[in-house]
Amino acid sequence: MSTVDSSTTLAAPEPHSEPHQPAVQFENVSIGFDGNPVLHNISFQTTSGEMCILLGPAGGGKSILLKLANGLIKPDSGTIRIFGQEISSLPEQELFAIRSNIGMVFQESALFDSLSVRDNVAYRLMQQKDPEEDIDRRVIESLSFVELEDAIDKFPAELSGGMKRRVAIARAIITQPKLLLYDSPTGGLDPITSTTIIQLVMKQRDVYKGSALLVTHRLQDAFILATHRFNRQTNQMERVPGNGADPNTSIMVLREGRIAFSGSLVELLRSEDPYIKEYLE
Ligand SMILES: Nc1ncnc2c1ncn2[C@@H]1O[C@H](COP(=O)(O)OP(=O)(O)OP(=O)(O)O)[C@@H](O)[C@H]1O
Ligand SMILES: [Mg+2]
Repeated sequence: MSTVDSSTTLAAPEPHSEPHQPAVQFENVSIGFDGNPVLHNISFQTTSGEMCILLGPAGGGKSILLKLANGLIKPDSGTIRIFGQEISSLPEQELFAIRSNIGMVFQESALFDSLSVRDNVAYRLMQQKDPEEDIDRRVIESLSFVELEDAIDKFPAELSGGMKRRVAIARAIITQPKLLLYDSPTGGLDPITSTTIIQLVMKQRDVYKGSALLVTHRLQDAFILATHRFNRQTNQMERVPGNGADPNTSIMVLREGRIAFSGSLVELLRSEDPYIKEYLE
């Protein structure tokens, strides 16, 4: 594990080198429950290959936003597109195909307690009725990505919190989805285990070049992800050269169902918005 330098002296990010189709696009999306608005007219888009980190206080609507992006819930109004496909009006049957391109790591891991690690990770492939030998190979690949092959026959009750998150990541990446949705993957973990999880998230970002939305309560997670890259040769993360920021990592702060900030880490640190300044302190 490399040491993490979260110093805040950063060079300006390079612009994206070429235009991409948005991975996730929200247009004027609103949703509420029992008359209480939760998200108000949210509009944003992330490009293909971009990781967008969602920060914000508890109850601000971060998990709801991820569930909307996965089509698990529908907005009251507005449009949601995933890789250009409008999902907010699709019937469940058609959402199935879209979801095969999306991997989700739920808040608190959400493993199936009665299934072994192997069957938790294999779950989607088993649902798709893939051939058994194919499933075995891919489960081992996924578990080796999160360095947890030895736990294949264990059950969730036998795992630590950090191991459960790693299994949840292995389960989310097994279909090699183009979009990953991580809901608080470091929530409730100690700082060292959190850094291990963030390093895995970074490895996934930098090795497979996928798109991702990642929710976190820890500013530290956003700093590490925005200022480091995963080096395959050393199997460690390292600072972006020249004290720079990763151009494919953006940050969004949700506050009471509205976007309080959207931009790069450099822009976040330079923000003059009183709420953002207080949040950063
Ligand atoms: N199924 C639901 N029915 C009613 N209200 C809900 C439902 N799901 C979420 N809410 C409400 O929506 C608001 C936003 O919830 P959400 O779970 O998105 O917050 P969050 O930003 O993820 O918070 P945390 O940081 O604590 O995980 C909360 O006030 C919550 O009570
Ligand atoms: Mg949440």
